[in-house]
Amino acid sequence: MMTIKAITFASILLAATAIGAFAHSGAKGVVMERMELMKSIQGHMKTVGEMIQGKRAFKAADAKSAAENVAQHADELPHKFPEGTVDHPSEALPSIWQDWERFVSIADEMKIRALALADAAEISSDASGLRPAFTAVGKTCSACHEDFRKTN
Ligand code: HEC
Repeated sequence: MMTIKAITFASILLAATAIGAFAHSGAKGVVMERMELMKSIQGHMKTVGEMIQGKRAFKAADAKSAAENVAQHADELPHKFPEGTVDHPSEALPSIWQDWERFVSIADEMKIRALALADAAEISSDASGLRPAFTAVGKTCSACHEDFRKTN
């Protein structure tokens, strides 16, 4: 079982909404593709996060499809990390390929939790009902970034 450190809801929102904080001009090939993938994941998290914050109207169908997109991206994620692709300006750490099983298991966990978020969107009558499932997805972002991404 993976262990994930406790983390505050606020810091997850921050991580999920800090669009534009990463300027990675010059990225090419698969490195660029996975940065785009991550930005797309982040955008979908932002959609749901803003509903929870009350910055965006709660629409169950939109929350559900955003969560389903995150789940789908989780499937694509490992394929965007061929061994040894750490070319500048990548922030990927070589430990990804030393501990590939854990890397993939965190991506799998993100998928499971994103699908749970999609389910929560279906049964919730308001955005606050999404908070626990949203936070659970956010913990998988942090878990993977802490171990496998250079801190900036
Ligand atoms: C299984 C591991 C893993 C998971 C899960 C994961 N990430 Fe990442 N993420 C990475 C790695 C590794 C990088 C660095 C990639 C690079 O620079 O080559 C990264 C980079 C990013 C970036 C920077 C992209 C850029 O333009 O450089 C953002 C934003 C991001 N992740 C958001 C998220 C969010 C939001 C989640 C959760 C919903 C998430 N990630 C889940 C591994 C993961």
